[in-house]
Amino acid sequence: MKTWLRELPKVELHLHIEGSLEPELMFSLAARNNVALPYDTVDEVRTAYDFSDLQSFLNLYYQGMRVLHTEQDFHDLAMAYFERAHEEGVVHVELSFDPQAHLNRGVELAVPFEGLRRAMRDAERRWGMTTALIMSFLRDRDASEAMDVLERAAPFYESIDAVGLDSAEVGNPPAKFAAVFERAKALGIPRVAHAGEEGPAAYISEALEVLDICRIDHGVACLQDAELMACLRESQIPLTVCPLSNVRLKVVPTMADHPLPAMIEQGVKVTLNSDDPAYFGGGVLNNYLACFEAFDWDRDLFKQLAGNAIEAAFMPETRRSELLERLSTC
Ligand code: ADE
Ligand code: ZN
Repeated sequence: MKTWLRELPKVELHLHIEGSLEPELMFSLAARNNVALPYDTVDEVRTAYDFSDLQSFLNLYYQGMRVLHTEQDFHDLAMAYFERAHEEGVVHVELSFDPQAHLNRGVELAVPFEGLRRAMRDAERRWGMTTALIMSFLRDRDASEAMDVLERAAPFYESIDAVGLDSAEVGNPPAKFAAVFERAKALGIPRVAHAGEEGPAAYISEALEVLDICRIDHGVACLQDAELMACLRESQIPLTVCPLSNVRLKVVPTMADHPLPAMIEQGVKVTLNSDDPAYFGGGVLNNYLACFEAFDWDRDLFKQLAGNAIEAAFMPETRRSELLERLSTC
């Protein structure tokens, strides 16, 4: 089964590229850019990754990404991730990034855009891997800042497959970003948003109604609301669930307590993703394996979930048909 899961053509829809920064690369980029780190060894970094909630993770996530300064840094970060993903049998990656977290420390918008775009082209050339780029807004900062970033990103609109919404959820409801998402919609840019990770089910409903999103990131709080469950079942709007992330951030106590089986049983369209693989115990394959170990799902169920991700991806229809065809022969 493990070999079969590795070979299954997997699509990753929820990945923060800054959260793929492994401690080894953090040290080498820190040396390259003369950035001081509060750690002496790689082991010390890994020991620090013991989180009590989303905020305790975000503190280290924003600290870690301070080593990223140049276009080459963003390129190397993404290539290191694409190579690992390729080895895990991932055939398409949708990476999000947080431009405000870089702008606010003096790294211009063009730097992540150019570095990530070059890596995306290289991954397609080297491994035939397809990719999409999601520009996320930080919900714990003012909406006016997000609006400003959206306007300043005009030279890069061709490279943006969607905009997203992430960072500290509780107290920062989707409606705070209504105008930003309305502007993105007017520009013809698809929209996704984190909702119902630490926040309540009401944030999922609000993101659907006010932000007009086409995918929900996490959404694991949905079972709290029967009306929302009926809406998710009927609309088949995809949820990008990240089970290992939910355990590591204490959204659920253990894998066995995860709501994924109940969500699937009740007809919600879920996909499996890694979120921040360097911080939460591995990439997409490890998330598939953790589900296999916890729930003993059969091949048909994993094919259904992999198929959901192919259907929910931002990719040309020819690529979608090709991957669905590949999946059908597994
Ligand atoms: N940014 C990176 N990872 C995140 C997560 N799991 N939730 C919200 N914002 C994030
Ligand atoms: Zn996330």
